[in-house]
Amino acid sequence: MIHSRIAGTGSYLPDRVVTNHDLAKIVDTNDEWIVSRTGIRERHYAAADQDASDLALIASRRAIFAAGVNAIDIDLIIVATSTPDMVFPATACILQDKLGIKHSVAFDIQAVCAGFIFGLATADKFIRSGAAKCALVVGSEVFSRIMNWQDRGTCVLFGDGAGAVILKASDAPGILSTHLHTDGSYRHALCTPGTVENGKVRGSPMLQMQGSAVYKFAVKAFEEVAWEALRANAMKPDEIDWFICHQANERIIAHAARKLDLPDEKVVMMVDRHGNTSAASIPLALDATVREGKIRVGDSILLAALGGGFAWGAAMLKW
Ligand code: UT7
Repeated sequence: MIHSRIAGTGSYLPDRVVTNHDLAKIVDTNDEWIVSRTGIRERHYAAADQDASDLALIASRRAIFAAGVNAIDIDLIIVATSTPDMVFPATACILQDKLGIKHSVAFDIQAVCAGFIFGLATADKFIRSGAAKCALVVGSEVFSRIMNWQDRGTCVLFGDGAGAVILKASDAPGILSTHLHTDGSYRHALCTPGTVENGKVRGSPMLQMQGSAVYKFAVKAFEEVAWEALRANAMKPDEIDWFICHQANERIIAHAARKLDLPDEKVVMMVDRHGNTSAASIPLALDATVREGKIRVGDSILLAALGGGFAWGAAMLKW
């Protein structure tokens, strides 16, 4: 039986760090409010000449190097992004070209903050079916480009970045299970509704969110999807070594961890340094934890994310 396994991780954060104090100079906010409501202290913003594919390229090269593969070995590229370089072609096609390869299948996945888990699940199914042997799965975002700077309830939350993994065919299981959900009836609660029509933008091209509705749904969804992943693998919460939840809000992550009775040391918390980087959040947090030398062979890792749509999901990994 063919399984898929993460062979290497990589990530990239743009150089420009923007603190809560920096934001307080341009919007009516303050460090105390942002930290107490979200845990966010700073985020990174891409430079004007950096698009999602540029961030993805650096993260991908780092993952390729860590996995010890060559770009030429990659036969599937999936980029999860809600801030693509352009309407089309897919950012994955642009990334493929920048990586200097031609032969792989490349496409984007649009599941907003849950995009990386949707991408990982898709790549896992490609590999387990024999349709691919070596996949590059990337989450890359430049959310700073779609912020409404008049809306202090959202513009302080998001940041830019990219994270990537190389997923390879393996005899031993690495991705144990994935669990995906969507409920489009919530599509207005978190969206960027603008589109292009006759050379103009129709609707708002800036992110809008009903924060408390998202919060309430997220805490319930994380708990349910975490139990779904545990049940699917006949595991108990105390068998989880690492919980890597979408880094949107420290309070939401802590709530989910409490419901699973997980101690703080098993819960990856990067939201203070990254802000909410949407589809990049989980692979960024995973790569940072790997590079800190914390994750050991044989560890069980639960990933969980929720984003616009609503789209949400989980993945259980064996490292
Ligand atoms: O990535 C997808 C998943 N996204 C999420 O998980 C986000 C989920 N939602 C949240 O994390 C929270 O709802 C927020 C952090 C976005 C907001 O926290 P909240 O406790 O729900 O605050 P609120 O929106 O109810 O606003 C409370 C107060 C309001 O003032 P009044 O009306 O009570 O006087 C806001 O105007 O806080 C005010 N406020 C701010 N004050 C200072 C809102 N944003 C700010 C701000 N600085 N940046």
